[in-house]
Amino acid sequence: MAAKVLAVANQKGGVGKTTTALTLSAALGNYGQRTLTVDLDPHVSASIHLRCYPEDMRFTAFDLFVHHGEALAQIWSNIRVWEPGQRFEFVPGHKKLSDLEVDLSARRGKGLLLRRALQRVLDEYDYIVLDCPPHLGVLLVNALMAANLLVIPLQTDFMAVHGLKLLFETVGTLNKLRPTPLRYKVLPTMYDARASACRRVLQLLKDKLGENMFSTIVHMDTKFREASAQGRTVSDAYPDSRGALEYQQLAKEIISHEQKS
Ligand SMILES: Nc1ncnc2c1ncn2[C@@H]1O[C@H](COP(=O)(O)OP(=O)(O)OP(=O)(O)O)[C@@H](O)[C@H]1O
Ligand SMILES: [Mg+2]
Repeated sequence: MAAKVLAVANQKGGVGKTTTALTLSAALGNYGQRTLTVDLDPHVSASIHLRCYPEDMRFTAFDLFVHHGEALAQIWSNIRVWEPGQRFEFVPGHKKLSDLEVDLSARRGKGLLLRRALQRVLDEYDYIVLDCPPHLGVLLVNALMAANLLVIPLQTDFMAVHGLKLLFETVGTLNKLRPTPLRYKVLPTMYDARASACRRVLQLLKDKLGENMFSTIVHMDTKFREASAQGRTVSDAYPDSRGALEYQQLAKEIISHEQKS
């Protein structure tokens, strides 16, 4: 079966997109799912997190947008990074990704370039996870056009709920161009049960989103920052930590849900 493409996106910054993309990928890998993760953010946080420095790479995610045909086949043979012990393969990002906004401005079908590039490797994986930049532009549009499921990490505070509206507007616009509407699910992150504001936002989200919210809730956990300082995911560095176990639960939820859809 072809891989399911999961876009991890939110137009708000610092909500846990990169942490979710990487930790979920590791968790899917732990369940034996063949997983590829792509860094689509020109700030290359996911690449830096994994100590995968774009300047040392022959090819990066940028190349997936600008090549086609035989050249693209060559790129796929050389672009994927895998370190022993890592539970997923990885395509690093590059700061040049931000040039695509201008470079592709006059290009027809510019929103479908990533989808076309990923089609070549869909049969090799169970999941392809896309770490998206926070701003709306050609990269986010490409991710949302390529995705089967939009995973929206959402920090449980009131400002974050406002950011959600922006993303829904974007998805609404793109759904007019997609063959089927994009499915989405919200993942509450950095949850602190001691804060009453957090508890209220969580209840509000549950009431409003119903089944479009994961049952998994990711709590605040200092181990995420510690793992990133070691260039590892929390699943690798602290497999028994609360954060690692919560992302395992998320992976399980996604696997059982995607098997049915
Ligand atoms: N559940 C959590 N508990 C504590 N810290 C977390 C948690 N999730 C993420 N973090 C930390 O919060 C910071 C921001 O997370 P992350 O980089 O994943 O957000 P982002 O949405 O990708 O940000 P950007 O919009 O800049 O790409 C990081 O330092 C990360 O280690
Ligand atoms: Mg990020």
